[in-house]
Amino acid sequence: MNTILVTGASSGIGAAIARLAAQQGYDLAVTARRLERLQSLCQECEPYGVRVLPIQADLAQWEGVQAVAHAALAAFGRVDVLINNAGFGRLNWLETLDGEADIAAQIQVNLIAPIQLTRQILPSMIANRRGHIINIASIASLIATPTYSVYAASKFGLHGFTEALRREVAIYGIRVSGVYPGGVETEFGEKAGIQRKSGIKTPDWMRLTAEQVAKHTLRLIQHPRREIVMPGYLRVIVWLNRFAPTLVDWVIQQWFVARERSLT
Ligand SMILES: NC(=O)c1ccc[n+]([C@@H]2O[C@H](COP(=O)([O-])OP(=O)(O)OC[C@H]3O[C@@H](n4cnc5c(N)ncnc54)[C@H](OP(=O)(O)O)[C@@H]3O)[C@@H](O)[C@H]2O)c1
Repeated sequence: MNTILVTGASSGIGAAIARLAAQQGYDLAVTARRLERLQSLCQECEPYGVRVLPIQADLAQWEGVQAVAHAALAAFGRVDVLINNAGFGRLNWLETLDGEADIAAQIQVNLIAPIQLTRQILPSMIANRRGHIINIASIASLIATPTYSVYAASKFGLHGFTEALRREVAIYGIRVSGVYPGGVETEFGEKAGIQRKSGIKTPDWMRLTAEQVAKHTLRLIQHPRREIVMPGYLRVIVWLNRFAPTLVDWVIQQWFVARERSLT
């Protein structure tokens, strides 16, 4: 396994994955809309003597997905590891979201694009009888919270896709893994349009760095696992959410929704 395609590599988790992968000697195809960011990433990776191919594409468009798959396969002949990372959140009350820019585009980039891109790359993995698809989902794939309704829908969908595909393709020696991080310090929050009147937010000590997520993600290639939930203690909340949903509903209503809505 020596060729990786990373989506959303112009910032945050995707850029950290690409940098670390280059240091570890992988050839890379990196994609996003901001070409200048991808080009400076390529320059950063030059000292490691690996090939890095920048592909400018908008994954909100079907043509963008096709262009990425085509360019990566044309340049390298195959993709050993596909890391579906590109994504964004518009984290606000459902009734305030724009139908196109916030809802349709979020589902398109976070869910439909990974499915379509995987669909494009998969035949070559099946032919080679090897490959690894790693989906950067979110803790919001496992616990749905207020103001994350569309984001959670996209990420629950990505979780379901990951689970089903793993069972579909294992027979060909292809691995499928899901990464489920909690809050990560990236540009994600700046673009999310969060408007909290109560000031409630994820405490800084709970936030991961993009480099931590990148390290665990790349470790999956050598040591494949079904999923990584990080930080690990979030599994307790996942468990509570599953087995005590009434309690979780009540706490969220009292602690967050009632306070926030009363200030709106
Ligand atoms: N940060 C968190 O707290 C957190 C937690 C759990 C999971 N995640 C997930 O981690 C992944 C990476 O997010 P991040 O935190 O690293 O955020 P980020 O720094 O904002 O990076 C998002 C990446 O996705 C790309 N992207 C967004 N829309 C795109 C589009 N239409 N076409 C192509 N590329 C697009 C962006 O590139 P361009 O803008 O250049 O196109 C950028 O490279 C996302 O799937 C996110 O849902 C984030």
